[in-house]
Amino acid sequence: MARAWLDKNESPKDVPEELKQRILELARGTDFARYEGPYLDRLRDKLGAVNSVDKTNLLLGSGSDECILILCLAFGGPGTRVIIASPTFATYKDAATWSHSTVVDVPRLMPDFRLDADRVLEEVASADVSCPPKKQFASIVFVCRPNNPTGSICPEEDVRRLLAAPRCLVVVDEAYYEFSGLTLAPWISSYSNVIVLRTFSKAYSIAGLRVGYVIAPEPLATVMERRRLPYNISLFSQLSALVVLQEEQYFLRWARELRQAGEDLQSRLASLPGAKVWPSTTNFILFATPSPSGRVHSMLQERGIMVRRYPGEPLLADHHLRVSVGSPQANAAFMQELAAVLNGLSQQAESPARTPCAGR
Ligand SMILES: Cc1ncc(COP(=O)(O)O)c(C=O)c1O
Repeated sequence: MARAWLDKNESPKDVPEELKQRILELARGTDFARYEGPYLDRLRDKLGAVNSVDKTNLLLGSGSDECILILCLAFGGPGTRVIIASPTFATYKDAATWSHSTVVDVPRLMPDFRLDADRVLEEVASADVSCPPKKQFASIVFVCRPNNPTGSICPEEDVRRLLAAPRCLVVVDEAYYEFSGLTLAPWISSYSNVIVLRTFSKAYSIAGLRVGYVIAPEPLATVMERRRLPYNISLFSQLSALVVLQEEQYFLRWARELRQAGEDLQSRLASLPGAKVWPSTTNFILFATPSPSGRVHSMLQERGIMVRRYPGEPLLADHHLRVSVGSPQANAAFMQELAAVLNGLSQQAESPARTPCAGR
């Protein structure tokens, strides 16, 4: 049994017992035999108030994963290019592929994993020429802000340049908004081609209940609504999201605490010999290891510490790992084991190779 699950950017703290009781009481008073209940509407009203938008600007999904799929089905398809910037969140590529869109990967630029906005714009321009005119958007660009797993933040100026490009839909994924405090949601009133994604899976601690949402200009939300399966979020998940959102201040405080713990973890990681840490405003940290990351990953795993590695990502495969910020105990266990693993590997590297025995 693992000692520390630090590989999925989950919240290390469950929903408090008192809130669970509220959720269970509401669930008990709900008619499970019915498809519809009052909670989806109440949740959209509350989300509208929290985000200062109308409920017609909102669409809920079974996690923001489902929102990504819905939007690829709604606006992608044959002829549309979906532009991603690796390394980034993997679902964009999957959803684009499943919607039969053309995936175009514009790798991020080193040394800081910056989005290569100039090259993305070139791709957007050529998409416009090749896409059938009847389609609303020729390209969809996913801007993960801050980017998972690199933590890098695409400058507002670059997002504006993308938004000004012809027939280009820009999707700004703000899954880590409650930690970073960065949002472009107000832009939905000035741009007709921007969509913002959010989730209850991170700061709000209900990843297992699967609730995410989209904030979009009304015409785009309406198109997506037509692609949403009816009753896509269970009554239980709807009412749970409502209850946690009613305690917004508690969860925002929690997000600030977790981010602070993340800053401490970044400094501790940076003090390990040979480790390099990428700045993060979220609940995860990307770091480079002096020894091959595949080896470090499996040795950590043997010691019960689960972190994320990226064997398929050229920029990350050899020497990078991502760790989610966990509980104080999990963070301490991670640091202790990582230090031991790196120390062991550096000693192995220093000791001369044993000459094979020449025989009897
Ligand atoms: C950037 C990003 N977007 C979306 C998601 C999906 O979240 P959800 O649990 O809401 O499907 C994640 C999950 O890790 C993520 O990192």
